[in-house]
Amino acid sequence: MADTLAPIDRAKFSAARCAAEMVEDGMKLGLGTGSTAAWLVRCLAERVREEGLKLTCVPTSARTAALARDLGLRVVALEEAGWLDLTIDGADEFDADLTLIKGGGGALLQEKIVATASDRMLVITDATKEVRALGAFALPVEVIPFGWQASRMLIEELLGALDVMGTKASLRMNGERPFVTDEGNHILDLALGRIGNPRQLSLALNQVPGVVENGLFIDVCDGVIIGHADGRVLIRDALAGTEKEERILFEDTDNIFRDI
Ligand code: A5P
Repeated sequence: MADTLAPIDRAKFSAARCAAEMVEDGMKLGLGTGSTAAWLVRCLAERVREEGLKLTCVPTSARTAALARDLGLRVVALEEAGWLDLTIDGADEFDADLTLIKGGGGALLQEKIVATASDRMLVITDATKEVRALGAFALPVEVIPFGWQASRMLIEELLGALDVMGTKASLRMNGERPFVTDEGNHILDLALGRIGNPRQLSLALNQVPGVVENGLFIDVCDGVIIGHADGRVLIRDALAGTEKEERILFEDTDNIFRDI
């Protein structure tokens, strides 16, 4: 069954499977959002079924919550869980410092809150997300609907004075209407091209009235698992400063694909 997946999905699956194997019985886990995180949810559900693992899961979006519940995971709100052992999530871009751009799926606010309420955060990804400098992927910024046009003008003016290449902020659409996040907000996607100073940019954006949060994750991610289509996974641990390679065997994974 894994043979029928596109190479990119095999790569995402490999990273997710590897991360799921690191999860320990009794953990309180943050579950990310997006296609890679969806593979993680499936892999965790399989471990719960096969091994009887007891997990408490806090999703970062309504989408992830629905999938996790459907597959039989125990889902609670962050308010109930309190503090988490580990959050595993995808990313849109990551650099050598493990600074991330997230929010391509529109869930950056819950993702940031959940990740920072965890002892550790791991990113699962395919190799295409690794970049020398962040910014080719448009940076998502969540803004409240009230006066979003004014927030956008202030953001574009601010960007003109910062170390970025582009300054255009576009309102994310869902068909004919503005995209609405799980919190009822909108997303502005900033076409920056290159971000010279992520820390300065993040602080400046969050000062703009109407901005709820931006998609830069700085000093949040502790490690990254990079999956490849052939099952190879590279595990980079920022705290330990190590990198090792492992391999996922697709033959062992048929149960997971039966769920799809
Ligand atoms: C969701 O809001 C994002 O932060 C996702 O984590 C990111 O877009 C990665 O998505 P994929 O796993 O689908 O590439």
